[in-house]
Amino acid sequence: MENLEYYILARAIHVIGVVIWIGGVAFVTTVLVPSLKKITDKNNRLELFEQLEGTFAFQTRFVTLMTGASGYFMIDYMHAWDRYQQVQFWWMHLMTLVWGTFTLVLFVLEPLVLHHWFKEQAIKDSDIAFAWLHRMHKVLLSLSLLVVLGAHGFQF
Ligand code: HEM
Repeated sequence: MENLEYYILARAIHVIGVVIWIGGVAFVTTVLVPSLKKITDKNNRLELFEQLEGTFAFQTRFVTLMTGASGYFMIDYMHAWDRYQQVQFWWMHLMTLVWGTFTLVLFVLEPLVLHHWFKEQAIKDSDIAFAWLHRMHKVLLSLSLLVVLGAHGFQF
């Protein structure tokens, strides 16, 4: 294969991106949100969440771009676009879907709608808002872990 070192570099960037990204989502889902739910002062809870989320969202946006660009490069390098037409590559579809969901949430929905909406809900009923937030993170984490299984040969 020509310029194999570019492929190796793209794969390394992809894996580093995935490790930081999914590791972050796992931390938020299993440690951060459950800890926030235990804070009884509802104002403190929201304030702390907004401070932490601001930094995390910036980092995740950067990592999302890295992962998407390196993934695109790898498909193009391998001329593997036809994988999208093959069922056994279900994990490639899921990978792209997970990436698309995060991209939509982080770059469009969060700044335009979600940030404001979540704050409103948290002021109205903090317990319900944080329970919803937790559920959404659990769904995204589960889908992401499924991608990792699929990318390593797991078939149903
Ligand atoms: C548009 C987004 C993405 C594209 C185009 C893409 C594309 C690719 C490609 C082409 C490969 C190499 C497959 C092979 O060597 O046969 C790969 C590997 C991989 N991708 Fe993605 N990917 C994307 C997003 C994601 C996301 C969101 C995740 C995690 C949830 C992910 C996790 C992985 C993993 C774990 C591997 C295997 C890496 C290894 O062990 O070497 N990818 N991806």
